[in-house]
Amino acid sequence: MAVEILSVGAYTPSKRVTNDELAENYNIDTSDEWIKSHTGIGSRYFAAEDETCSSIAYHASVKALEKAGVKADELDCIIFATSTPDYQIFPASASVLQEMLGAGNAGAFDLAQGCTGFIYGLEVGKSLILGGMKKVLVVGAEKLSSYLNWNDRNTCVLFGDGAGVALLGETESVKSEIFDSYLRSEGSGAEALKVQKGGSKNPLIMGDPVDEDSFIFMDGRLVYNFAVRAVTDVVKILMEKHNLKEEDLKYIVPHQANKRIIQAASKRLGIPMEKFYLNIEEFANTSAATVPIALNEMDEKGVLKKGDLILTVGFGAGLAYGGNLLRW
Ligand code: UT7
Repeated sequence: MAVEILSVGAYTPSKRVTNDELAENYNIDTSDEWIKSHTGIGSRYFAAEDETCSSIAYHASVKALEKAGVKADELDCIIFATSTPDYQIFPASASVLQEMLGAGNAGAFDLAQGCTGFIYGLEVGKSLILGGMKKVLVVGAEKLSSYLNWNDRNTCVLFGDGAGVALLGETESVKSEIFDSYLRSEGSGAEALKVQKGGSKNPLIMGDPVDEDSFIFMDGRLVYNFAVRAVTDVVKILMEKHNLKEEDLKYIVPHQANKRIIQAASKRLGIPMEKFYLNIEEFANTSAATVPIALNEMDEKGVLKKGDLILTVGFGAGLAYGGNLLRW
């Protein structure tokens, strides 16, 4: 028995904001030229005020369930990878989503591993199915706009909102499966990408003002260097382990934080940029949602055939990183 992705789905909020609009509307000292040349980002989507991380995830989930002809009450578990849950501590967004979907027979939990969350989620979902569950929904969803520091041009231009999901089920076919993953973390770099305030380390204090420490902080250069190394290592390790050549892979689907990270990794690996599936120009960095949004886009554009080999790569807060080898 193996585990396959039965279907994928994604949801993009309707408010698309170009770099120029971002600079003007949020009063940021930046330019389209700087953002494009330093990151490859041209726009991002922001959720409406009344949209939540779980409502964004709901739309993506419904699409995947419909595509596969699976009813919500057939789900055995929902794994919700996010850094921007509806509630800071609890309840889990997975439980909120479970109620929205009417997935009354499902267990539900959040998976907090930043931009690598969906990569971890696929491997955990696979294990649950190998352990006896029949249908598991793996969600990657973010409303990062809630945590952007509009005074910090180093970070606020980089992120967007969105959701992507994969519905997993068992298969007897060897043509289509999640067949390996590589999951790692470098906790020594944990302070490089964080929201300082609000956890048990720096708890909220009654009467304290909301200040910059309540929003995303990133040591961009440190994370950049880590990210290039992480992408290079994950691709190399999974390819070598399975004796794969570049031509065996249809696409490498990397987390999209900065196009220059992928260009640097491509150069180090000697694998051309065309092998990497990129949509950062339109979506910016949607953290845990990035890889499933890209998978859904590839599926809808018809660029994937059954049996195609795909290698996903994630990296980010933690500093966690990893990848999955998928046969579509
Ligand atoms: O998903 C999680 C993982 N995240 C990542 O992997 C992101 C990793 N980091 C990066 O992608 C890059 O480090 C950044 C995009 C964050 C920064 O790019 P950079 O080329 O490393 O820029 P820098 O930090 O070296 O800054 C260069 C200059 C600075 O000005 P000075 O000090 O040289 O005068 C910055 O103040 O660019 C300035 N700058 C900007 N200028 C206009 C930084 N952000 C902006 C901006 N607009 N938005």
